[in-house]
Amino acid sequence: MSMPFVVTIDGPAGAGKSTVAKLLAQKLGVAFLDTGAMYRALTLKALRLGTDLEDPAALESLARATVIDVLFEPGGSLRVLLDEQDVSVDIRSQEVTNKTFYIARTPGVREVLVDWQKRMGRKVSLVGDGRDLGTVVFPDAAFKFFLDADFKVRCRRRADELRLKGLPVDEAGLEKDLMERDQHDLTRKVGPLKKADDALYIDSTGMSIDEVVNFIAARIDRQ
Ligand code: C5P
Repeated sequence: MSMPFVVTIDGPAGAGKSTVAKLLAQKLGVAFLDTGAMYRALTLKALRLGTDLEDPAALESLARATVIDVLFEPGGSLRVLLDEQDVSVDIRSQEVTNKTFYIARTPGVREVLVDWQKRMGRKVSLVGDGRDLGTVVFPDAAFKFFLDADFKVRCRRRADELRLKGLPVDEAGLEKDLMERDQHDLTRKVGPLKKADDALYIDSTGMSIDEVVNFIAARIDRQ
């Protein structure tokens, strides 16, 4: 059996990472690891239980007592399980999106989730998307990419995504939320959003999703 290989795609919110990572995983016939879904799932659990989001010890205990499953097999559907319960839709709510930074900034929580992600990368080949995959989770990944796009374009993509789901769009609110999320991700002390030195930077501002996927696939093929 060949060794599992890992492709990492990091970048800010709204750059298209998840869509690209999922399509690329399907193209390569490997699993897709949505690490953001893990931070979201834990946030959902904390909100449901009324855990104090300002209490790092409580959040770490919660993380250690939770089973999250977010690995998608090629061709499979996108399902996120929180303690065996399907929360795929609930973790995308605005409240969860805006409050995930509490979970994401807590070192003990990151330790638990990063450890799970590392173990997964040793077991199966995968394409993962997140903020710290190239720097912290998979520093030895075979291929690393950092996907970016102009702020306005990221906002527009996020708005289109919501409209496609039939949800109302408050453009000014959306811009503010995205800016705050970027700020939190860039400035936290552990696992901040950062391009790994050996990651290839891709500006997807003028590119379609398919163009980005094909560009990355061609890079991988060439090696
Ligand atoms: O990727 P997504 O937008 O679903 O991630 C939700 C949040 O989870 C991000 O805003 C970020 O704060 C956090 N996250 C993280 N590290 C990752 C993936 C996501 O801190 N590897």
